[in-house]
Amino acid sequence: MKILAIETSCDETAAAVVENGTKIISNVIASSAEMHKKYGGIVPEIAAREQLRCVIPVLTEACPSLTTVDAIAVAIGPGLVGSLLIGVETAKTIAFATGKPIIPVDHVLAHMYANFLDSNRENSSRAQSRDNLIGFPAISLVVSGGHTELYLMKSVKELTWLGGTLDDAAGECFDKTARLLGFENRGGVAIEEAAKKCKVPSAKCKVKLPRPMLDDSFNFSFSGLKTAVLREWKKYEQHDEALINGFAYEIQEAITDVLVKKTLRAAQKHQAKSILLSGGVAANSRLREKFSILHSQFSIHVPPAQLCTDNAVAIASYAFFRGEPTDWHEITAVPDVSVEF
Ligand code: KG4
Ligand code: ZN
Repeated sequence: MKILAIETSCDETAAAVVENGTKIISNVIASSAEMHKKYGGIVPEIAAREQLRCVIPVLTEACPSLTTVDAIAVAIGPGLVGSLLIGVETAKTIAFATGKPIIPVDHVLAHMYANFLDSNRENSSRAQSRDNLIGFPAISLVVSGGHTELYLMKSVKELTWLGGTLDDAAGECFDKTARLLGFENRGGVAIEEAAKKCKVPSAKCKVKLPRPMLDDSFNFSFSGLKTAVLREWKKYEQHDEALINGFAYEIQEAITDVLVKKTLRAAQKHQAKSILLSGGVAANSRLREKFSILHSQFSIHVPPAQLCTDNAVAIASYAFFRGEPTDWHEITAVPDVSVEF
């Protein structure tokens, strides 16, 4: 079964065709990230106008003929309403015009299904059995710009929400502290790059940040960490490159320590066989490195970095494994669609 998926929840316009939830036939992503740089954050109006301009070219590049696909999937939320509407209304129009089934998808849940894809197009037999490589029960951590959520996965279909952030998401913490350090947008990537340049232990920067909410719950809280960074930052009069790199290092250590410890505790409690990472922050190489150390206890799954950030491939995979075809009249953009159940 081939599914054409559309994802326009934030500043990306993405379309992809995926076969049987695992085999990528096409994957096209246009981003307006550069256009938001000078504003220090995503401007929803600019994102939506750019998506309106890009959606048909991206769609036709990913799927030159609609006769080749069996269903349409679309991200209905969470995300920016103006952006979501472009993908949702485009997908509904295709469903109406072709009569093909349409599957609405929660984009945060979809992130985890990037783990079920095999980007190696040549090796389809391995791709078909990819889901078997993930042992259940599994613990799945989704870490994106707006979400930090932990799920128990008893099978490819059965998800239980265990906890999530009470305030800022991990990605938001990377982005906001990056801005304080003087970086423009793409905060997570900027912090990762600066942290790599930090010589540890740094003579210049001995900043030590808290590891918030390491209690027994599976909830997270990152807003206090952001405040702690601000407080420490103000103690220094000169903010040179060595200091910035030192801060970046410690911010990355603090965020990744919390993510690893909470996920590990959930995996131990539920006797998980596998741990799945996904969402934009899962592209972070330090986080990937810290999880990889746990490989003797659990099988660790992380999508390639370009499939961690928003993409339509994961939307198609989710639709195949867990989605439900819905009458297109009933589908609408839901900016705050629930990720807790
Ligand atoms: O999943 P995503 O593309 O969009 C949302 O659904 O939010 O995630 C975007 C988030 C941003 O906060 C971005 O700074 C973060 O993922 N991110 C990273 C890295 N790449 C992207 N955070 C840390 N390290 C990275 N390499
Ligand atoms: Zn996302």
